[in-house]
Amino acid sequence: MSQLGGAISLAQDTLALAQAYEQAGILQFHHGKFLIGPLALKAGDHVLDIGAGTGRLTEFAAGVVGPTGRVIGLDPLEYRIAIAQLRQTEALTFETGRAEDLSRFDENTFDAVYLNSVLHWIEDKALALNEIHRVLKPGGRLGLNVQDPAKPHESRALLRKAIQQIGLGGRHAESHPVLGVGDDELRRLLSEAGFIEYRSELRSLVEIHRDADSLLKWSEASAFGNFLDGFSEAERTAVRLAFTDLLESKRVPEGLRLERYLRFAFAHKGGAARTI
Ligand SMILES: C[S@@+](CC[C@H](N)C(=O)[O-])C[C@H]1O[C@@H](n2cnc3c(N)ncnc32)[C@H](O)[C@@H]1O
Repeated sequence: MSQLGGAISLAQDTLALAQAYEQAGILQFHHGKFLIGPLALKAGDHVLDIGAGTGRLTEFAAGVVGPTGRVIGLDPLEYRIAIAQLRQTEALTFETGRAEDLSRFDENTFDAVYLNSVLHWIEDKALALNEIHRVLKPGGRLGLNVQDPAKPHESRALLRKAIQQIGLGGRHAESHPVLGVGDDELRRLLSEAGFIEYRSELRSLVEIHRDADSLLKWSEASAFGNFLDGFSEAERTAVRLAFTDLLESKRVPEGLRLERYLRFAFAHKGGAARTI
């Protein structure tokens, strides 16, 4: 498995980080909409959103499948699920849980499953994909986007540079761990889990941040306690300062313009007429 960084912790999220994510999570929401279209969700579909966070995209999906459909959002972080549950309706519910254990769901339950900016947080991708394949109905669709180790986000590359500039390396070479996956590996993982007709595309997504501080807040919130974890207070301050300086090269009249890169992949479970 390709790996940038070390182990990921699910135990360090806080209410403040979850609230910050809910406020700023509109970024991931926009990326996520590129998943929903190709998944061709339709009225009445049963959908599982894995790693739903605070549920913004899940709510959008529920709007697409309508009152005859059913959408479930799953996420391991309790603070995020508590915020997501404020969005609940009869057709839209949220539960804590992980991709690697979908045993609460029977096989052949969902028409579509998606993961928006989630797979690079999952260590045992094979287990998660096997579980997803099991709970999909024959012909059911999978959509996901994931960081590709060959093309790190611009902010991640600048953070790495900032860390080098202040003389840190080794265990601290990265701002936070990311378990990204490239095209060949993703194709193999999906095929081994039983998915067919894999297709993927690396997309460049432009984001504008007001300033370095708002970008740092966003990074902290989306990494749920893993951002600069293990750095001392003094090291964090030094990284933030060096990063802020480096970000000046990204300044445009509207703010700081950065590109992030996500591989979007789609496949489906065989056994019935395909719908995408
Ligand atoms: C960057 S957020 C994306 C949240 C949401 N999908 C969105 O579009 O806003 C990544 C999410 O992945 C979740 N996650 C991390 N490990 C997971 C796992 N093993 N199973 C399911 N979700 C996981 C995190 O809790 C976090 O909410």
